[in-house]
Amino acid sequence: MSWNTLDDMDLNGKNVLVRVDINVPVENGVVSDTTRIDRIVPTLRDIMAKGGRPILIAHFGRPKGKVNLDMTLRVCLPALQAALGHKVGFVETLEGAEAMTDEVAQTPVVLLENIRFYPGEEQNDPALAQRLARLGDVFCNDAFSAAHRAHASTEGLARLLPSCAGRLMQAELSALESALSRPTRPVGAVVGGAKVSTKIELLENLVERLDLLVIGGGMANTFLAASGADLGASLREADYEDTARAIMARAKDSGCRILLPVDGLAARAFKAGADHEVVALNAATRLSGDQMILDAGPQSIAAIHAAFATLKTLIWNGPLGAFEIAPFDQATVSAARKAAELTTNGVLVSVAGGGDTVAALNQAGAADGFSYISTAGGAFLEWMEGKTLPGVAALSRAPADA
Ligand code: 3PG
Repeated sequence: MSWNTLDDMDLNGKNVLVRVDINVPVENGVVSDTTRIDRIVPTLRDIMAKGGRPILIAHFGRPKGKVNLDMTLRVCLPALQAALGHKVGFVETLEGAEAMTDEVAQTPVVLLENIRFYPGEEQNDPALAQRLARLGDVFCNDAFSAAHRAHASTEGLARLLPSCAGRLMQAELSALESALSRPTRPVGAVVGGAKVSTKIELLENLVERLDLLVIGGGMANTFLAASGADLGASLREADYEDTARAIMARAKDSGCRILLPVDGLAARAFKAGADHEVVALNAATRLSGDQMILDAGPQSIAAIHAAFATLKTLIWNGPLGAFEIAPFDQATVSAARKAAELTTNGVLVSVAGGGDTVAALNQAGAADGFSYISTAGGAFLEWMEGKTLPGVAALSRAPADA
């Protein structure tokens, strides 16, 4: 697939509708992590440099088609203005945007209120898409992290106006394509997190494409149990042991090596600083009923380091243990730092994204060392599952235009 970028568009004197994802964490009325806001700034600057006026369309939370001022995008205005260094006009309703009167018309950048206040957004209602399209001349989608949603402002609108990818969308697509679609081999992935059930399609797709798959976190327990281990009170999904066996068989058939923990930290309480011991993990492991594995152990960490050293490309999704409670963050921290070190030394391309991943890499102080950190959660996973993202597909040029 190929896309128009801002370089392909004439924006002079034009109103540019920009779909952004500023669905950011807020604590006590203040944005607590501005990453998603900071990452859209290059797109907005480039649009303005080309003489265009960005009109931002975004969602915040899941208000389900109703006005809910607990989810107003007004909360993002101070952080957005600070990141951009410009005043941003705020428009509360589409009627207001259609009138574009008052001081809003004077501001170089405009932010529309939460588009999910309109039921037509999530229904991808053509009437809402057309209403949005009338507000601008060009559509720029810079919201890769919302591109798995076929909504009026992500998918519908792209079909109605001359459209292009913004700078963040371009960066996300290029990083993910180079990690999964045409990676430098050997290519491996870390997939961690609690549950196999939420990542079946991801695991199935990855074992077909990768040379190495490191499985960690709670989901590794399900794989170990599927091989015969009794892991006591450890988090695991007994209903998914067959799935785990099927994934292991598929990996074997397609030449993907699965690396499971060979030892773990077993505790009797899920809490920071809990007493623990290192136990061997294999088919013969028999833990007592109150023991639970909360992290991978030292031999597993050494094996992960050694495996990383054989790779040229690494994709990372999910923590390897209960990283939010020390000392059970050790495997995640150590492996993340190793990946960052290899990347900094120029021998590894590393791409990470999804859910808790960025928080875990930040906690490890390793995020800056990675080649690319995606801003996407669900969209990152769907891309890795091999799915077509509707917001991306709607941007693609027909081969004749490419
Ligand atoms: C996200 O935060 O991952 C995106 O903004 C998508 O949000 P959603 O899951 O509510 O569609």
